[in-house]
Amino acid sequence: MKTLSFPHDFLWGTATSAHQVEGGNHNNDWWAWEQTPGHIKDGSCSDPACDWWNRAEEDFDRARQMGQNAHRLSVEWSRIEPREGHWSGEAIARYRQMLTALRERGIEPMVTLHHFTNPLWLVEKGGWEREEAIPLFVRYVERVVQELGDLVSLWCTINEPTVVPFMGYSIGDFPPGKRDTRLAFKVLGNLLKAHAAAYHAIHRIQPQAQVGVAHNMRAMDPANPRSPLDRWAASFRDRMGNRLVEWALTEGVLRFFPLGRTERVPELAGSFDYWGLNYYNRDRVVFDISQPGQFFCRALPAEHSQPVPWWWGEIHPQSLYRFLKELARYGKPIYITENGALDNTDEYRPRYILTHLAAVHRAIAEGVPVKGYFHWSLVDNFEWADGYSARFGLIHVDFETQKRTIKRSGELYREICLAGAITEDMVERYAPEARDEIFQGL
Ligand code: BGC
Repeated sequence: MKTLSFPHDFLWGTATSAHQVEGGNHNNDWWAWEQTPGHIKDGSCSDPACDWWNRAEEDFDRARQMGQNAHRLSVEWSRIEPREGHWSGEAIARYRQMLTALRERGIEPMVTLHHFTNPLWLVEKGGWEREEAIPLFVRYVERVVQELGDLVSLWCTINEPTVVPFMGYSIGDFPPGKRDTRLAFKVLGNLLKAHAAAYHAIHRIQPQAQVGVAHNMRAMDPANPRSPLDRWAASFRDRMGNRLVEWALTEGVLRFFPLGRTERVPELAGSFDYWGLNYYNRDRVVFDISQPGQFFCRALPAEHSQPVPWWWGEIHPQSLYRFLKELARYGKPIYITENGALDNTDEYRPRYILTHLAAVHRAIAEGVPVKGYFHWSLVDNFEWADGYSARFGLIHVDFETQKRTIKRSGELYREICLAGAITEDMVERYAPEARDEIFQGL
């Protein structure tokens, strides 16, 4: 019997973010953005989402029954500090309750401090366009760590520091909906500096904490490897989307030239105790002069037939393996802080899970220190500009009734988490067509 066994202390988890699941977050820039028709594809809004402010524990029960021993969630700045300098004891108490509930169920929490949303009062002051956001973020982080630190040892400062500026300031599909690439780089610089400051602040309060960033890495390959223009486009986009953050965190340099200033930020160098990798897919790109906001890249639709919108990218587990092998050079633990599939019918999610975990297993077998995997997501939730029209959950949510139903992929993930392994029998039942890909070399 072929089996891919994972280390005994591996963290098997799922990930969520406050605004996408809690409901009732009316005091941040996303809520304001949702009120304008056209911003959210299906015209929906984030309240009540999955109603976690009232019923998170019910889903934590499901996570435990599904064999998970970790969960990555975020806390909402606009709840904790609803007005500048005013702290909500009620919000902090509720987060303490949630974290305690996780711990009681044997689920290790990883807490993200910033997952896309910003308090309205911060936005009114210019938000991340201004350096003044940095000390304000640090003050909030210090408060959270003082209040919750006894329940949390894994912190993630910022979720996807490239996605906030590129989606909000270059492509313009996220708030504040600007299209100004230079400004996007300014925002990226401020977010990275805020991360560094928060990293050191957390360690001052909680020296043993493990602190990192969840960096979204999207694989970029030239559509035609023989075309110098496609090769240039892929490598430029790889540099902008993937490497800038990597160089910032490892070398302490913001290499923004020619779209911003190259700047040395010594506090950034080495400011991560683990590497947090969000990986979803890859793009095969062609050079396209008409796409400056996309760094002169146009992604081709995925070659093989996949039941995903063409723009979502190509499912490509090999690129996850490739990133893991590259990141091993930093010698730090790696967590897959997100990996998941846009699949409204749960048709191919089981195969996606199996092939991506097999890629993780291959990397571990070759010595890459991957310590945990957080599938995005535990439950279907408010998928930003796509509203409820894009489902990523292992658990189906009926947003009319809040009824939950574990999907087939959720059953599979339960089996994997409980066994700490992928077995031949699971593959036979869930994705026999991917047998060779999953057990390659065995
Ligand atoms: C984000 C999540 C989002 C997921 C699926 C990630 O980039 O961190 O908030 O729901 O992708 O699109």
